[in-house]
Amino acid sequence: MPARSSATRRTVLRGAAAAPVAGLGLAACSAQDGSGSAAATPTAPVDLGAESEVAKGGAKLYREHNVVVSRAEDGTLKAYSTICTHAGCPINKLQGTTLICPCHGSEFDAVTGKVVQAPATEPLPELSVKAAKGRIVAGPAD
Ligand code: FES
Repeated sequence: MPARSSATRRTVLRGAAAAPVAGLGLAACSAQDGSGSAAATPTAPVDLGAESEVAKGGAKLYREHNVVVSRAEDGTLKAYSTICTHAGCPINKLQGTTLICPCHGSEFDAVTGKVVQAPATEPLPELSVKAAKGRIVAGPAD
């Protein structure tokens, strides 16, 4: 009998050790598909990089901050969150000034934040942005 009870205990311990790993796997998956809370836009002003990186009439996607910055022909900067308004995926692709969501193919205009391709229906939230000492700084909307 003692042999059987120790085997049972081992099984229980093994089961307990496996549980946190399974939990981590789940968290990683949900962050990847964007439904987790890992993807977020800046909650405080963040230095994105050199101002010269965003040309007039162009846009740049800052994936690590989930922000896109575009510059109009008159030099005005605009910044938008790149967390897709459809189901929350971080948008990882910018073609010209069109943002393309990897999850279900929604497309947004990086200059206006507007939807150009469903299934998303809501525009991207605008963020505050300014150029200071040759650097682009974006943050939560004013
Ligand atoms: S989450 Fe972007 S298209 Fe669905």
